[in-house]
Amino acid sequence: MATIKTLGLSKTYGTGESMVKALDGVDLTIEQGEFLAIVGRSGSGKTTMLDCMGLLMRPSSGAVIVDGTDASTLNDGQRAELRSKRIGFIFQEFNLLPTMSAMENILLPLRYSGGDRKAARIRAEGFLEEVGLAKRANHRPTQMSGGEQQRVAIARSLINEPTLVLGDEPMGEVDTDTANALLEFMRRINAERRVSFVIVTHDLDLAARTDRVIRLRDGHVISDERPSRQLVQRPAAAAAA
Ligand SMILES: Nc1ncnc2c1ncn2[C@@H]1O[C@H](COP(=O)(O)OP(=O)(O)OP(=O)(O)O)[C@@H](O)[C@H]1O
Ligand SMILES: [Mg+2]
Repeated sequence: MATIKTLGLSKTYGTGESMVKALDGVDLTIEQGEFLAIVGRSGSGKTTMLDCMGLLMRPSSGAVIVDGTDASTLNDGQRAELRSKRIGFIFQEFNLLPTMSAMENILLPLRYSGGDRKAARIRAEGFLEEVGLAKRANHRPTQMSGGEQQRVAIARSLINEPTLVLGDEPMGEVDTDTANALLEFMRRINAERRVSFVIVTHDLDLAARTDRVIRLRDGHVISDERPSRQLVQRPAAAAAA
């Protein structure tokens, strides 16, 4: 079953002279366990795409199907429930609450999903350990570096055990080394738990290290490539020849 599928996904902002077609008929299928990047110029529709896939925004037309459920048939409450159970978000500006500790921030999504807090706390401790922040559980965001905050944000995106994590420029505010470490952590989670990751990025080097790169232009998918799979396929093709 596909984790997420879009059919003729379109989104128009504004009316008349100021009308902008941010997405224009995007058909995309993302299978469970994929790790992919969305790239494209500023204004090409990346954030709009992510917000529609994450059920944060309703498209003007077309459908988003999450784990087999057509989200357009759901009311706002049902969409919120599907979102909180299946989808994790990582944003560029971390979006951590400044008055809360790292642990409290990671547990925040439990408020909306109503999941088991005790089990979640154990998971959160495991994530903090895994990203080398076990000693930072009680620190507030202002007491952590950008990279540390973003690791907390990644842990938070995973706390409800989603099938899909969406990141809008999650590495946008950190240096290259930190970005690489964050990517590695996400790749590990992807490999171990089969969580799908969709990452919007301006960084083409980073994009090249995912399994699939989707390029948007003016709300259209203009290319959909699998850089690492080509590398894997080459020896096999040579052996067959
Ligand atoms: N709320 C809005 N109202 C009107 N137009 C909008 C709105 N949000 C986005 N747009 C327009 O829709 C288009 C796509 O915007 P979007 O934010 O999806 O682009 P993006 O690829 O994420 O860009 P960036 O790389 O700068 O973040 C742009 O032309 C933008 O100006
Ligand atoms: Mg954007």
